[in-house]
Amino acid sequence: MRKVTLGESGPTVSAIGLGCMGMSALYGPRPEEAQSIRTIHRALDLDIDVIDTSASYGDGHNEQLIAKAIHDRRDRVFLCTKFGIRRDNGPMRIDSSPDWARKSCDKSLQRLGVDHIDLFYLHRRNPDVPTEDTIAAMAELVAAGKVRHLGLSEVNAQTLRQAHAVHPLAALQTEYSLLSRDVEDEILPTCRELDITLVAYSPISRALLTGEITTDTAFGDDDLRSGNPRFSGGNRAANLALVDRLRALAGEMGVTPAQLALAWLLERGTVPIPGTTKVRHLEDNAAAATLTLTSEQIQHIADLMPTNAVRGERLSDAAARWVGK
Ligand code: ATR
Repeated sequence: MRKVTLGESGPTVSAIGLGCMGMSALYGPRPEEAQSIRTIHRALDLDIDVIDTSASYGDGHNEQLIAKAIHDRRDRVFLCTKFGIRRDNGPMRIDSSPDWARKSCDKSLQRLGVDHIDLFYLHRRNPDVPTEDTIAAMAELVAAGKVRHLGLSEVNAQTLRQAHAVHPLAALQTEYSLLSRDVEDEILPTCRELDITLVAYSPISRALLTGEITTDTAFGDDDLRSGNPRFSGGNRAANLALVDRLRALAGEMGVTPAQLALAWLLERGTVPIPGTTKVRHLEDNAAAATLTLTSEQIQHIADLMPTNAVRGERLSDAAARWVGK
């Protein structure tokens, strides 16, 4: 597995990570626990060490699942979790207060069964809380040895700068894929300027870029894609027509569309964390790290999917409310 350095002089980690959210929530019925644990173990055996979770995924279920998977192999994991999306058995709210940073970190350490978290992200920012206060509290967690590195998720460039001035950030996690390229305007250049690694979530656009979704694929209420504008009727058909172009090129190159989409993100200097609950998908995704693309190929792939041809917003209205803060 290819390795990369996070941030300016941060840790060396695998170039591709594993997103674990779907093992607990938001992508339909929860898979068998044994299947999820097999997937995590296969990732580690393939030298994928970036294991990504959040306190919010399944309200702690995801962290407990990961604890079971890694208890006897903690030293092989670069463990990433997040705080700030809070439910407490009620409606979701965003809490980026210093007090919740401290409390949520302790709860995550307990659920994960570890003595430190390798990368601790603020999952979403509440604009009522000054960025400096949140990051100062997160920096105290570093000083206390509970957390090794800090990151933010889905914030704007100004917040990124303010935060980085308080404590160096290793990573910004945000959505980035061939179908979601708005970060290229301001966020990615700011990350490059400040030496903050962009960790790309939904790098295969919630499976749209795999070629396995069709106009007939049905999503239940427990699947976030049922309410995502990119997947609704006419939008989905238009977006799948773009994916067909990627599929054709992948066929010519003897690779899968997912591999091409991930290889493209690797060439952009980002760390994609495709989410999967299945060993065979994990293996498909991991193989992207063996591909190298020429600059002509990188441009050609981007040209297959012009940003103005993508139909529908990347997030539902409810989810979009808390990004770019
Ligand atoms: P997210 O970051 O939100 O997890 P993503 O990584 O872009 O989004 O896509 C995740 C989705 O793609 C999941 O539905 C996952 O389903 P499985 O759990 O069944 O794998 C699917 N997926 C991931 N890798 C895939 C692959 N190589 N081929 C087909 N589907 C894949």
